[in-house]
Amino acid sequence: MKQLLDALTPGDIEWRIATQLDPKRIPAHIAVIMDGNGRWARQRNYPRILGHKAGIDPVRTTVETCAQLGLEALTLYAFSVENWKRPRHEIEGLWRLLRIYLRRELPNLMRNDIQLAAIGRIESLPANVQAELRHVMDKTAQNRGMRLNLAINYGGRTELVDAVNAMIENARNEGNLDALEITEEAISAHLYTAGLKDPDLLIRTSGEMRISNFLLWQIAYAELYVTDTLWPDFTRRELLEAIADYQNRERRFGGLARTAHTALEPSPYSFEEELLELPLA
Ligand code: FPP
Repeated sequence: MKQLLDALTPGDIEWRIATQLDPKRIPAHIAVIMDGNGRWARQRNYPRILGHKAGIDPVRTTVETCAQLGLEALTLYAFSVENWKRPRHEIEGLWRLLRIYLRRELPNLMRNDIQLAAIGRIESLPANVQAELRHVMDKTAQNRGMRLNLAINYGGRTELVDAVNAMIENARNEGNLDALEITEEAISAHLYTAGLKDPDLLIRTSGEMRISNFLLWQIAYAELYVTDTLWPDFTRRELLEAIADYQNRERRFGGLARTAHTALEPSPYSFEEELLELPLA
């Protein structure tokens, strides 16, 4: 948090939002569905790939700001398993942008102590993209600050399928298949995000009210923040506003609101008497 305040200009709007955040309740993990690049390009009569190119700046700002805030993890949805349905030239353009981003961003990742990971079926990506990812992952492997997950060729359902298959394979290799127990902890430990806290906040740009097969297991209790802003227009200010909004939510994890416990008067009736009073239909 201090790192972020040092980077901001005292008195300006971002600084004012940041100073109002509760440093003890900064989300540990934020996940982002970066949507709206195509619409941003269409509004300007540009080819779609220029929308993706314009999406790189907000990636850089979001990554740096989250690291300065002291997040443990940031997960960005860069390419879904469904995105292969797009025209070939758009897909190839995305790979080129990703490689340029990785090459240019390495010094910033090092300076901010960020460790890069790729989550998804990475083995199906073009060899030069895999090589660039591997290079940056190796170089940043010893960094101990924030973990940046790029979800590439990622799908929430494929992740669950991969996790269950890995559990079965491990158990078979150890000759333990009969004793294999499927528990929530075991599934979490076999996801691409094993060892990380689940996202506290999921941000989606461009106004669509969908999850789009993103981190299906991990977002069970995430707070959702959907903004109409298209991804290339997403700013540090809006990121800070999303976190401020998150801090105003009451997270109940299926329990009761903190106030509900004190607001309830003790009932003079027994539970059975109260049930009998309920109309039947
Ligand atoms: C969704 O917008 C965005 C993507 C499928 C790609 C995300 C890529 C970037 C933000 C560019 C660079 C990323 C990295 C990590 C370097 P869309 O094309 O579906 O937009 P639309 O719904 O308006 O058509």
